[in-house]
Amino acid sequence: MKFFVDTAEIDQIKELNDLGMVDGVTTNPSLIAKSGRNILEVTKEICDLVSGPVSAEVVALDAETMLAEGRKLAKIADNIAVKVPLTWAGLQTCKALTDEGIMVNVTLCFSANQALLAAKAGATFISPFIGRLDDLNLDGLDLIEDIRTIYDNYGFETNILAASIRSANHMSDCAKIGADVATAPPAVIKAMANHMLTDKGLAGFMADVEKAGIKIL
Ligand code: G3P
Repeated sequence: MKFFVDTAEIDQIKELNDLGMVDGVTTNPSLIAKSGRNILEVTKEICDLVSGPVSAEVVALDAETMLAEGRKLAKIADNIAVKVPLTWAGLQTCKALTDEGIMVNVTLCFSANQALLAAKAGATFISPFIGRLDDLNLDGLDLIEDIRTIYDNYGFETNILAASIRSANHMSDCAKIGADVATAPPAVIKAMANHMLTDKGLAGFMADVEKAGIKIL
């Protein structure tokens, strides 16, 4: 499973990228607003840093303006994936940009039918939002599983990009189901390293290091 990092914070992307943990980056208008940066400038910086796909989202609601925005975003760098919402206008934009050879990430997906439409429109990525379904007492992981089944049934090449990931468990669960990509905030990716038995075991080793005066350097 590929790891995308869901942030527009350059320092955090750089730290994870230096560790080889970043196969791509996703942003959205809320993350750009949080960064306080100009969308075109910060997106260019991210594209220069990371070689994998960098999702940058359109802000228009009609297909014509979305298409113009998408073309402008795509000019930033070769690794831009234009992000469009899963609306009818978004699907129209997805098809047009895909036909022009531009990667498209269709976002705000909450149902298997929406994912089916995105694949038919040629999306490079479909972004089902797990956490926001869980918030409503629905099961976001069930959706990932349903989309995996449907895409495999028909050989759709659209990549399942699990999004709205809130916990380390979401990451391993997505990997078990066979999501192609999971995009997570930096803190969630870092939390994947944590285990209380690791901490406990290390504390025991350190006590013995102290007791025996073990030194390496
Ligand atoms: O990848 C989509 C993500 O940014 C949304 O996450 O936690 O706001 O549902 P969240």
